[in-house]
Amino acid sequence: MQIIKYISDLDTVLAEFRKQGKPIGFVPTMGALHDGHLSLINQSVSDNPVTVASIYVNPTQFNDQTDLKNYPRNPGTDRKLLESVKCNILFVPDDKEMYPEKDNRVFDFGFLDEIMEGEKRPGHFNGVAQIVTKLFDAVKPDRAYFGKKDFQQIAIIKKIVGDLNYDIEIIACPIVREKDGLAMSSRNTLLKEQERKEAVKIYETLQQIQKRIKYTDIDELKKYALKAINHTKHLKLDYLQIVNTKTLIPVNKITKKEPVTACIAVYAGNIRLIDNLDLFT
Ligand code: PAJ
Repeated sequence: MQIIKYISDLDTVLAEFRKQGKPIGFVPTMGALHDGHLSLINQSVSDNPVTVASIYVNPTQFNDQTDLKNYPRNPGTDRKLLESVKCNILFVPDDKEMYPEKDNRVFDFGFLDEIMEGEKRPGHFNGVAQIVTKLFDAVKPDRAYFGKKDFQQIAIIKKIVGDLNYDIEIIACPIVREKDGLAMSSRNTLLKEQERKEAVKIYETLQQIQKRIKYTDIDELKKYALKAINHTKHLKLDYLQIVNTKTLIPVNKITKKEPVTACIAVYAGNIRLIDNLDLFT
């Protein structure tokens, strides 16, 4: 695996693959890699002759500076993991490389960032869009892989790709979970023992909602989630939303015609975790 720090070096290496007509798959990450990230790399490696992963903890998408400071970083382990899944190129830029000057771009996501993560983390998706467009411009991939764990992020990325006419296929990959159901996340390593145990309640709540959705109204489901989560000692519900899977518009009533996804954000102690479940799968 080649490790590259500068966009100019990346250009040189990738130009050669492009000349040979080899499609490039790209997996952007913030590191502290786990099996969820590796599943995206595996998908890219099986779809493309060349896979580029990036590791960059992007400051502009953190609305909370403590979260940025505490974000886990394991560069040595990450490199080994990426080699073990046959990633070809690892791009590890620093702040100067990605933001030689302040990025003042403001993106318009329409309704997509007015709810859930957009509402609760002001500026977060604008920061995601800033870095993802910079990374897309640097890598110029044919395909880019994102996890459904960040359900709303995928909708945002697809909107940018459409609005800015990027010729990149966006591939949404399934959520990888721990054995007990907790969605894998770099932030899980920050949980204290008891918080980690209780965090299983997040996925359990989504599963209960899936079971009840056909015969319970949405407000009742929200009340159910609030109770189930907040009655667990170290957990606190930030939101539960049931939205149209494509438009992300909250649904008031379940109809058979509409695919819906339940999205949840929960504080376990000070650590904020998100998860979601496609309710008709
Ligand atoms: P990060 O949180 O490191 O996630 C990188 C990619 O891995 C994202 O597409 C995310 O959805 C996916 N991922 C994380 N946990 C997963 C899981 N349990 N199962 C499947 N996929 C999972 O998302 C970001 O970084 C950043 O916002 C980024 C896009 C890199 C821009 O900075």
